[in-house]
Amino acid sequence: MIVTIDGVAASGKSSVASGVARALGIPYVSSGLLYRTATLLGLEAGLELNDATALLAHLRANPLRLEPRAKGNRVWVGERELTAELHSSRVDAGVSRVAALPEVRAWVDAQLRALPEPFVAEGRDMGTNVFPHAGAKFYLTASPRVRAERRAKERPEDVPAIEAALTERDRLDTVQSAPAPDARVIDTGPLTLDEVIGAVLSELPE
Ligand code: ADP
Ligand code: CDP
Repeated sequence: MIVTIDGVAASGKSSVASGVARALGIPYVSSGLLYRTATLLGLEAGLELNDATALLAHLRANPLRLEPRAKGNRVWVGERELTAELHSSRVDAGVSRVAALPEVRAWVDAQLRALPEPFVAEGRDMGTNVFPHAGAKFYLTASPRVRAERRAKERPEDVPAIEAALTERDRLDTVQSAPAPDARVIDTGPLTLDEVIGAVLSELPE
């Protein structure tokens, strides 16, 4: 059984996926962390973020390990843990360019499809491209201001700067961010985190 939770930036995907996964006693998988890892490694190596050939060669030479757990995913390259560095503003600013490269998307998708079920998968295209046969699909939204206010609690920048960056990332991510036709869309704006988790759990098949 796979449950997919897609949605726009900072709509609550990873927090909701974690809560749902914990309630079900299964891991959740953050696809965004793989795009963020590709971006961080590319930046550190001084690569052009639109140079798919160089990026892929670098990713293949530095194999990563995604550890999907219910309470939070971790990413390692060799002995080095990258997790804490993946949510920086410089990764935020570059990740959509990396995620636009079909070669990088194929690299991420292959890793996700190799994971053992069951799990909750969160991202942009989990219910559309990667796991179209998932048992239950959700798509989270919230207004740009609500999302920026939430993310401002996790980043050093102020709300207007974060809102501008989120809106720009939504624009760059439009192609892969359409909800699946069979996804239940949830506006998380007026809800608490626990209410969103409860709404997802109440819609799961027996
Ligand atoms: P995403 O994975 O979509 O970027 P996150 O899970 O990181 O989003 O959520 C952003 C922040 O919003 C988190 O700190 C989360 O706890 C908080 N949050 C506050 N209210 C809600 C809500 N109703 N639903 C989901 N997340 C919420
Ligand atoms: O948590 P937030 O929504 O801010 O970001 P994320 O889910 O970690 O995703 C980071 C970026 O990766 C997104 O802005 C997209 O560019 C890309 N992404 C994607 O293209 N497809 C996915 N399935 C997941 C993420």
